Amino acid sequence: MDKTISRPAKLRGVVKPPGDKSISHRSLIFNAVANKQSLISGLLLSDDILSTIRILQKLGVQIDIAENENICKVYGVGLHGLQVPQDDLDCGNSGTTMRLMIGLLTGIKGNIQLIGDQSLQKRPMERIIGPLNQMGANILSVNSDGLCPIIVHGQPINGGQEINLEIASAQVKSAILLAGLYSDGSTKLIEPIATRDHTERMLTAMGAQISIKDNQIELIEPPNYLNSQNIDIPSDISSAAPWIIAAVIHPDAEILIENVGINPSRFGIIKILVSMGANIEIINRKTISNEEVGDLVIKSSVLNGIIVSKELVPQAIDEIPLIALAACFAKGETQIAGIEELKVKESDRLKNTIDILNQFGGNITSCKQVMIIEGSRILKATHIQCSDDHRMTMLAGIAGLIADGTSSLVNIDSVSISYPSFWNDFDLLSIN
Ligand code: S3P
Repeated sequence: MDKTISRPAKLRGVVKPPGDKSISHRSLIFNAVANKQSLISGLLLSDDILSTIRILQKLGVQIDIAENENICKVYGVGLHGLQVPQDDLDCGNSGTTMRLMIGLLTGIKGNIQLIGDQSLQKRPMERIIGPLNQMGANILSVNSDGLCPIIVHGQPINGGQEINLEIASAQVKSAILLAGLYSDGSTKLIEPIATRDHTERMLTAMGAQISIKDNQIELIEPPNYLNSQNIDIPSDISSAAPWIIAAVIHPDAEILIENVGINPSRFGIIKILVSMGANIEIINRKTISNEEVGDLVIKSSVLNGIIVSKELVPQAIDEIPLIALAACFAKGETQIAGIEELKVKESDRLKNTIDILNQFGGNITSCKQVMIIEGSRILKATHIQCSDDHRMTMLAGIAGLIADGTSSLVNIDSVSISYPSFWNDFDLLSIN
């Protein structure tokens, strides 16, 4: 599908983005190996989550989905109840699926091959294979290039070990903790910078003993079983991000974004925008299924350029491209440090963010792992050939929504990876 976009006179209304992608993957995977049945509501039903569901079904887990209500029932098979599948496990475009599955499959006796689409075939898996093999697992990159296809020869890691992670990645951390469920002792890891902690929260709620001290996380001993948990999933702050950014930079905006997950380890976008001067209010704060949730009231704002430290980046990793868009409208320069991980997402998001925003008339460069965004720009409509990276397509959509003139976007369908109703919500908020 293609789309022409021009700036509406106003942005108004209420939006409820779909369920959190990270929590959706985890609630399915962890409940699949828990001891009973569980109900998951607010589940994100997008292509990435469907990859996780299909894989769990191939591993012998019954998952019933009531599509209209984003509710599903997972029939847990217990920690040792997964079956060796007949054929390869296709993770599609989903890095989270592949990385978490690698950890989980160390616990199943058998040889299982994981494959992925063209984008996933380029994403580094050595960051998982290295530490897990060092701990005693037997995981192989088929072409010895650290990429997928990956074969997991199921073999538990050894307990009593400590791993110092070189990369700040919640996916790597989660894979190690999942493998730790099948080890014969404790599993300790130290993160260079704290990353999202949904895994620790959910496994703890299911009865695993996890201690967290600064950036040190320890699964104290593998549990005998995980208690199934009914989970109510909040809206994904990463899917709220396009609307947050659109509203702060549009000259006449006031929107309400409902039921958004505001877990502190995902709060980077709000912290960064508030220090730039954004007009953001959080109301109706509550805790649901061990996750902080709130409604966000966002209004047009006057922004100032700032320096974003590398410690904040993992808290906003998927939102950095949109934050760069906001920084184009700020007074003065913005610098964002520690952006190297952007290069290994669903696409090279550092290059693509710079290309897309500069095509709209932005002035963004990068130098030594710092993104530098010149502020006070006037973005102008352009023609964008969208890639298969969902977040880059949404970035182009929001840039087009704010730019002067009429932009045209070609091939906008990749939003189905994380936000199938994105273009619907896009049209709903625009008022002429
Ligand atoms: C995710 C963690 C992040 C994020 C990805 C989802 C997760 O990746 O970019 O979209 O669910 O754990 P890294 O932690 O590997 O940076």
